[in-house]
Amino acid sequence: MPRLEGKVVLVTGAGSGIGKATALAFAREEAFLALADVEISRGEDAADEIIAAGGRAVFLKADVCNSEQVKNMIDQVVDTYGRLDCAFNNAGVAGDQTRTADCTEENWDRTIATNLKGVWLCMKYEISQMLKQGGGAIVNTSSVAGLVGLWGWSAYAASKHGVLGLTKSAALEYAKAGVRINAVCPSIVNTPMAESFTGGDPRVQEHILAQQPLGRMGTPEEVAAAVIWLCSEEAAFVTGHALAVDGGFLAR
Ligand SMILES: NC(=O)c1ccc[n+]([C@@H]2O[C@H](COP(=O)([O-])OP(=O)(O)OC[C@H]3O[C@@H](n4cnc5c(N)ncnc54)[C@H](O)[C@@H]3O)[C@@H](O)[C@H]2O)c1
Repeated sequence: MPRLEGKVVLVTGAGSGIGKATALAFAREEAFLALADVEISRGEDAADEIIAAGGRAVFLKADVCNSEQVKNMIDQVVDTYGRLDCAFNNAGVAGDQTRTADCTEENWDRTIATNLKGVWLCMKYEISQMLKQGGGAIVNTSSVAGLVGLWGWSAYAASKHGVLGLTKSAALEYAKAGVRINAVCPSIVNTPMAESFTGGDPRVQEHILAQQPLGRMGTPEEVAAAVIWLCSEEAAFVTGHALAVDGGFLAR
């Protein structure tokens, strides 16, 4: 039985990695997809893949840092499908690896604007729409770096800690209105972004894998499965939660 048949779902950062895998997973649950990304060709390819498999999908070009584009994105979802049931606010950047005192203002601003302000802007317009309909489910992508510090990644960790503060506060504010808001916190997942974390250096990759109790990277599909569950009725009593999908990283 499909778990999200006919539900209208928006995924940001849907052209690659975790976002793409999650959009495909929602489509397998027979949801109607809006895929947003700043990269047009990647996003269109992902939407085409869903349509070729018999699903419903549209691609919307949007930069999550830009309030006008985010508002237009939500308007376009509603113009296309008439409502918005679920949103996965996932677009993000790694930024540069640098210790705090060496972090440039440009790197700080870009990381916070994409990973934190971007999630807030998306939630702002998604929640307004969901309130008009009487409910919905939102999942934000944080990280294990939203729960612990990461050496050399302070701007990234600050952005991901911020996402959890935003998730929990909004979950309290809208619980009675029927909008559930949760976050996923992956550790290293095999996507193009993982290359940024390792710099393509096999020794760094080995070091990162040695910190994973399960001894491997996660797959984008394993994160997708958690997002689908959080959006489904099976998670009807779950809100304000930070769900680690981390191969045991945080249990150490
Ligand atoms: N891969 C990992 O190891 C890992 C671990 C923990 C958390 N995450 C988080 O998961 C999310 C997805 O990462 P991924 O690994 O799939 O990365 P990815 O680089 O494969 O995909 C990110 C997507 O987001 C899009 N994007 C970037 N900036 C955007 C913007 N301003 N507006 C719209 N789209 C934008 C990119 O074009 C890309 O398609 C990110 O928030 C990331 O921080 C990743």
